[in-house]
Amino acid sequence: SQVAAASGHTVVLVDQSDEILKKSTKGIEESLKRVTKKKFADKPEAGVEFIKKTLKNLTTSTDAASVVHSTDLVIEAIVENLEVKNQLFKTLDKFAPEHTIFASNTSSLQITKMANATTRQDRFGGLHFFNPVPMMKLVEVIKTPMTSQKTFESLMDFSKAVGKSPVSCKDTPGFIVNRLLVPYMMEAVRLFERGDASKEDIDVAMKLGAGYPMGPFELLDYVGLDTCKYIIDGWHSLESNNPLFAPSPLLNKLVEEKKLGKKTGEGFYKYK
Ligand code: 3HC
Repeated sequence: SQVAAASGHTVVLVDQSDEILKKSTKGIEESLKRVTKKKFADKPEAGVEFIKKTLKNLTTSTDAASVVHSTDLVIEAIVENLEVKNQLFKTLDKFAPEHTIFASNTSSLQITKMANATTRQDRFGGLHFFNPVPMMKLVEVIKTPMTSQKTFESLMDFSKAVGKSPVSCKDTPGFIVNRLLVPYMMEAVRLFERGDASKEDIDVAMKLGAGYPMGPFELLDYVGLDTCKYIIDGWHSLESNNPLFAPSPLLNKLVEEKKLGKKTGEGFYKYK
């Protein structure tokens, strides 16, 4: 929502409660300040104007069905649960205009299955952003066998219009980044579970030895352990013999204890 509003698009951010929306808006304001500080380092007044303009482009709502009639593009980024996503898309499909494109920001679920919950399979694709979205330049654009070329091109154009570099990928589990990144993070957890190295040393090793900006445990905490568990459990159910997709007892235990990473104050590490 932030990057779309900052690049001049009119955005309605929808969530379940005013309380969550208030928290989201505060997060956006803080992130915008960080972006602005760098972007307008020697023009603070232009920075203030940029924040004002961006926030003007952004409104919020708790009722998706009542705001979807005025949208050209819907980007869904709700819980990684296919049934819940399909329910939402089914409802929105009834209220959205004919031309409106639906896209999912899913990390791991099949876009085709969501498209099939609607009557607009040709106007349905994947738009997968990366955390933290204001900083990460990539967007994966997913074309299912039913996505029309026009829809695909619109999604590519939109990605560029919000300042990102799009890559395209077929509707395959994890697309490009997560198909490589999630098994890597899970291997790190297994290395730690076997007692081969401490999580701190694994993180230092990957930062200093492979040049990654964060170690795998820092990244797991940053992405959210619940999200990682949803992803790996989903893939395990699709390919139960693939050792790369095997669940981890430690990850399961942390999620059960509601230690979900940075967002809850504790995951593999503790946060203030
Ligand atoms: N909003 C705006 N700016 C932000 C920000 C945010 N949310 N988070 C960080 N920044 C800015 C900071 O202000 C800082 O700006 P500066 O250079 O002007 O000081 C800059 O980013 C660097 O931040 P920090 O100094 O705090 O810390 P780092 O140098 O470690 O950078 C990072 C932070 C950009 C998050 C970097 O650690 C990184 O690239 N980490 C890897 C992230 C990654 O792998 N993401 C993908 C996750 S997978 C995913 O999202 C897919 C999903 O489906 C699971």
